[in-house]
Amino acid sequence: MAQLSLSAVRKAYDKHVVIPGADLEIADGEFVVFVGPSGCGKSTLLRMIAGLEEITGGDVRIDGQRINELGPADRGIAMVFQSYALYPHKDVYGNMAFALKHAGVDKAVIEERVSKAAAILGLEPLLKRRPKQLSGGQRQRVAIGRAIVRDPKIFLFDEPLSNLDAALRVQMRVEILRLHQRLKSTMIYVTHDQVEAMTLADRIVVLHGGRIEQVGTPMELYHHPANLFVAGFIGSPKMNILAGTVEAASADNATVRLAAGASISVPVGASPAPGAKVSFGVRPEHLAIADAASASITGTAQVVERLGGETLVHVELADGATLVVKTDGECLARVGDIVGVTAQGAHCHLFDEAGLCLPKAEKHVLAV
Ligand SMILES: Nc1ncnc2c1ncn2[C@@H]1O[C@H](COP(=O)(O)OP(=O)(O)OP(=O)(O)O)[C@@H](O)[C@H]1O
Ligand SMILES: [Mg+2]
Repeated sequence: MAQLSLSAVRKAYDKHVVIPGADLEIADGEFVVFVGPSGCGKSTLLRMIAGLEEITGGDVRIDGQRINELGPADRGIAMVFQSYALYPHKDVYGNMAFALKHAGVDKAVIEERVSKAAAILGLEPLLKRRPKQLSGGQRQRVAIGRAIVRDPKIFLFDEPLSNLDAALRVQMRVEILRLHQRLKSTMIYVTHDQVEAMTLADRIVVLHGGRIEQVGTPMELYHHPANLFVAGFIGSPKMNILAGTVEAASADNATVRLAAGASISVPVGASPAPGAKVSFGVRPEHLAIADAASASITGTAQVVERLGGETLVHVELADGATLVVKTDGECLARVGDIVGVTAQGAHCHLFDEAGLCLPKAEKHVLAV
């Protein structure tokens, strides 16, 4: 059992406030991913949980016990970093056994734990090799093995896959998911890669400038982003955002005139005031290319990216704004074509001037 709770956790370096106050509850066995752009405070928050960084204010609790003043070794936490920092002169076995030997653990227990971790990670044939005789992926597996043998209550990962090439990252991602399914430990994983966050997390914590912008399951964040920052950060290609003005609104719908001229109906439940400035958001996959004569949005195909299974069409509108449309691989659009664009209303969003997403009309809230 390892439940983690952060309340008003704050970090400042002298007068420079990096994290003004973070509140977060992580359930036992949960896989939580901290995601956000470089410098947003992901590592700082993780290192405060690990005990590697002093906590300026607030409380960190594990299973209800305040651990602010406990040393890293006494928290029952193991951390895996981007740089694996293995001992070059020790073999794989020696690297995995080191912390346990240092703690005076019985030799038979060390052997049992190292062989179990090696079996989980497929390292058995490599136990006698030195780090320089291993590939990057194998080294990172040894670093994870070092964490497993300590049998921690909580695993912390800080961008563990960033040094690996793209194909290996995908493979290791699957391995980490399997590891979580097998160990069922509480895990917190830091990344700036939203695809990694979406694929690994039970819940994602989106950080921006030291603040938690939103916490939710991957699909909650995808379908119901709280604000423009989360909307733009989660999803690839990015959500299209266009400037618009509310023309009319009812209890479950708003009609918005886009700066490019077209009017579009969005099922929001907040009844924004006519004349209000809003941002209209829709993901490329919720748009389709249509006949220019019948669609309310029209523009010129400026770029056509053919990815094989799908095509991304960049459509320039009358006001110079661009909409990216994700469509099927066989799409016939060519650069220079005048095309129509249609949007799936239920997947459209409106954001107010402060960047907050207006709530959807109840019948359009997607179950996620
Ligand atoms: N020792 C320090 N003194 C002053 N500021 C620091 C110190 N360490 C980190 N910071 C600042 O704290 C902020 C958060 O840094 P942090 O390393 O947590 O970011 P991050 O989200 O992990 O970024 P990245 O994705 O680049 O690893 C940054 O603005 C950084 O400059
Ligand atoms: Mg970092």
